[in-house]
Amino acid sequence: MPENLIVPRHIGIIMDGNGRWAKNRGLPRTAGHIQGAKTFKKCVGYCRDMGVECVTFYAFSTENWKRPKAEVDAIMKLFSQYLDDAMKMTEENAKFVFLGDPEPLSDELKKKIRIVTDASAENKGIVCCIAINYGGRDDIVHAVRSIMNDNISADEVDEALISERLYTKNLPEVDLIIRPSGEQRLSNFLIWQAAYAEYVFMDVLWPDFSKSDLEEAVAEYSRRNRRFGGI
Ligand code: IPE
Ligand code: IPE
Ligand code: MG
Repeated sequence: MPENLIVPRHIGIIMDGNGRWAKNRGLPRTAGHIQGAKTFKKCVGYCRDMGVECVTFYAFSTENWKRPKAEVDAIMKLFSQYLDDAMKMTEENAKFVFLGDPEPLSDELKKKIRIVTDASAENKGIVCCIAINYGGRDDIVHAVRSIMNDNISADEVDEALISERLYTKNLPEVDLIIRPSGEQRLSNFLIWQAAYAEYVFMDVLWPDFSKSDLEEAVAEYSRRNRRFGGI
């Protein structure tokens, strides 16, 4: 890895381009999701080796339910395998956190999420967050509801309080958001949290995303001048 690299504490990754990867090969979209799940597993290792404290993967958005049922079902089945991989990674000290509303997920998936979360809660290695049925707007709605349910008065509501009620509570600020696939948008990912993140958009499709792509994104991040509104 080149010198004078600034390693972000928290990287967010929008795992996009699975469908196009499959289409380019004349394969069904599901084949792209299967390959994407393998990339996810490898990428946790790349981030850990680089010294990243926390990495958040956008796996399924609140909008992705609009897809054909067969594709959604295939993705949900794959999550079950993601979670089996996650369970193995808990033995390597990774801590898993799930972001999003688990309610519409199957009982089996909800149970696996609980098991992986509990099994890794005390782990001190890389924090790996998986955003499933996550939407940035839904995150804020969920936070506002929890504040109102606690009868907190309006003048006590500030940015810190809202941050504490989001799914990302206790996580470091997201420093860098990487989106492969060539699209240049957030698609409802961490919209509150990314207020001062740096964005790196890359043309590579997620299943092809490699260690050198991650290094390239971090090198680009290192060249940015983060002013946070100052000078
Ligand atoms: C991302 O890949 C995976 C999910 C959103 C679940 P896509 O399935 O969006 O791939 P493209 O964008 O169609 O290539
Ligand atoms: C964003 O990708 C969601 C995930 C990667 C989970 P999409 O493929 O759903 O985003 P759009 O539809 O191109 O904005
Ligand atoms: Mg997409």
